[in-house]
Amino acid sequence: MAIIINGKKIANEILENLKEKTAKLDKKPGLAVILANDNDSSKVYVSSKEKHSLYLGFKSCIYRFDKKVTQGELIKAIHELNENPNINGILVQLPLFEHLNANEIIEVINPKKDVDGFHPINVGKLNSNLNPWAVCCTPKGIIKLLKKYNIKIAGKNIVIVGRSNIVGKPLATLLTSEDATVTLAHSKTKNLKSITKEADILISATGHAKLIKANMVKKGAVVIDVGITKQPSGKLVGDVDFEKVKNIASYITPVPGGVGPMTIACLMENTYELYLKQNQ
Ligand code: GUN
Repeated sequence: MAIIINGKKIANEILENLKEKTAKLDKKPGLAVILANDNDSSKVYVSSKEKHSLYLGFKSCIYRFDKKVTQGELIKAIHELNENPNINGILVQLPLFEHLNANEIIEVINPKKDVDGFHPINVGKLNSNLNPWAVCCTPKGIIKLLKKYNIKIAGKNIVIVGRSNIVGKPLATLLTSEDATVTLAHSKTKNLKSITKEADILISATGHAKLIKANMVKKGAVVIDVGITKQPSGKLVGDVDFEKVKNIASYITPVPGGVGPMTIACLMENTYELYLKQNQ
């Protein structure tokens, strides 16, 4: 049976380390989160970001907007946060209400405060092998997990399923920089199984519960599950059919307790690092 990758434990180590380092700072790092959506998972994610910020001793500001919010109001709020010296990181929780244009809003964030690494300047830096101000949290967390478990990346065939700006695309860039051979598959990919079967490391980030079945995984592959879907029973499940795939893989991340806690730990780390860069 596969070794179960303990993301929660590694994330907790990162958080405890950050808490110690934060206690020694003159001023608190500040994270601002904008929530302009009323979906339940976004609300849960944002509350968790606040809870973790406060636990570390950061300043946390959540800006909650209702459906009537305009593009102009959000842009104005971001301009104010860009100028606020107590705020080091700005995060716009995605998705936004449908009438809002996320790309235009992200472009307004000062790239030096772009804690998600979503601003086109930071995406461009990442793609050009220049140091972005911050690297997207989920991809960063996945690479930390692989390294912590001494899973070799260079030369491996890595298949990522899901081409989002938040996970798939930046992860493909980062893994390519680590000398992997990366295939980025998505909803229009033909014969997905024939591609995933070739993966030494298979990473799924689609949000389709149990998309990855046992017969899509090569024996001994490393399987990383980024998906998280709430079933009608309330149970959280990933993109991977965990119970079956764990008998084929060499390593596998559980849901919950795998990639999720690493994303939040990396967000906290990014906030801390932006604080340092802004106070040099
Ligand atoms: N929605 C889902 N994941 C993320 C993330 O990492 N950052 C932001 N801003 N929104 C998200």
